[in-house]
This record gives sequence, structure tokens and C-alpha cells, in this order.
Amino acid sequence: MAKLGVNVDHVATLRQARLTSYPDPVTAAKIALSHGVSCITVHLREDRRHIQDDDLYRIRKLPNCRLNMEMAAEEEIIKIALDLKPDQVTLVPEKREELTTEGGLDVGRNFDHIRDTAKRFNESGISASLFIDADSSQIEASSLTQAVAVELNTGPYSQAKSEKEASKKLREVKEAAAFASGLGLTVHAGHGLTYKNVMYISDIPHINEINIGHSIVSQALFVGFDQAVSMMSGIIAKQPVSF
Ligand code: PXP
Repeated sequence: MAKLGVNVDHVATLRQARLTSYPDPVTAAKIALSHGVSCITVHLREDRRHIQDDDLYRIRKLPNCRLNMEMAAEEEIIKIALDLKPDQVTLVPEKREELTTEGGLDVGRNFDHIRDTAKRFNESGISASLFIDADSSQIEASSLTQAVAVELNTGPYSQAKSEKEASKKLREVKEAAAFASGLGLTVHAGHGLTYKNVMYISDIPHINEINIGHSIVSQALFVGFDQAVSMMSGIIAKQPVSF
């Protein structure tokens, strides 16, 4: 069964909107961990629009927290990650003007830099995962780097405008997951998943972990963070969940 990783970036988004000390993403991480989630995910963006460096170090200190740090493969951030030592880094493409990560890495085009960056992390005992689109050429290229995992971009599935398009995008994720797993990569998935569409992704046999942030933080506004995590974990575990 796929496991849930909870991304707490958007707790920090709300805090940064007023530059207050609340709400604290570390508190959200503690609540998520109390539900036995598989990891806490945070994205330290170069523009620091949500998570701040201090948040990362405070989350790193939480007991029994597997920390997945999303990041661009940029030297300033790489140095922080090597110092922080998260359990896993997920390399993502990053553009300052984007609202959120818009697509996967182009591993083939940036092969040498991605391979060298993944190698630096492996040598420091940090697993490297690559956020890529559900595309066989990206998966093949990823398998030739030193990355141990890929996170398949579920954004195109989440944003599909019709059922037909959603089925097509879901099929692409399924095929990509089987292909990546066959090449020996651990397979994660995420981006844009919600309480309504996650079950089709969590049903995919080769997917190990699903990273979800925005929809959980949004739901938390109405039911509280504890309940929002519990509902998402319940859906993934195929338990009855009432809204
Ligand atoms: N995975 C990656 C690589 C991401 O960049 C994000 C967004 O930070 C997520 C998962 C979580 O996406 P969402 O907030 O839409 O659930």
C-alpha cells in the first residue's frame, strides 16, 4: 500500500503572508507524524516564499521524522541540504515566477549536473529522488543517474479537464510507475492530489509514497490539521471516510 508523505509548505505560506511566527509548520509536522505518516516533505525555495531555513532545522530535530527535502539543484541550496542531512532530497525544477512546481525535471538535458548532484548526496548518506513527468525517456535517463527514486508528477492528472483526459493521464502514471520500478527505482508520486482524486493514484501497485500538501492544508482550515491528515491517510488506506 502507498504511504502518505505530508508537505507542510503551505502552513508556512500562511505565516509568511503576515511575517508572523504562526502558524508553525513544525507543529503541523508533529501532528502529521502522530498519524504515522511516512515522511514530512518541505520545499526550501530559493526565494524562501514559504519554508525558511530555520523551519528545516527545527523539523530535522523532530524524533522519528523521515524528512524529504524538495529543492532545486542549485549550489546554495545543495550546501544547506548537505549540512541539514535530510533522509531524502527530491530534486525539482524551480522558476521564481511560477506559482508552484510546473513540471518535472528534464533529466536528459541536465544529465551531468543531476548525476553529479545525486552522487554528492549519495556519498553523504542522503537518498536522491528526481521529480519527473510520467515519461519513459525521463525514467530511463533517471535510472542512469545515481538517484535511487523518482517522484512521478501527478499534476497533469490532477489538472485534467475531462474524465477522458484524466484516464489517459492516470494510465501514463501507471505505466511510468511499472517501468521505473522495473528499472530498480523506488517510485513516489505527487502534485495537485486531492481527497477526490488520490485513490486512483494510491491504487497503483508500484507507487511507494505519495506527497500531498496543498489540499491537506486547505482542508485543515475547516476540520483542523489533525482531522485533515487523518482523512487523507484513511482514503489511502481504503478506510471509510466521511466528509
Ligand atoms: N511533490 C513535489 C515535487 C512538489 O513540488 C509538490 C509541491 O510542493 C508536491 C509534491 C505537493 O504538491 P501539492 O501541494 O499540490 O499537494
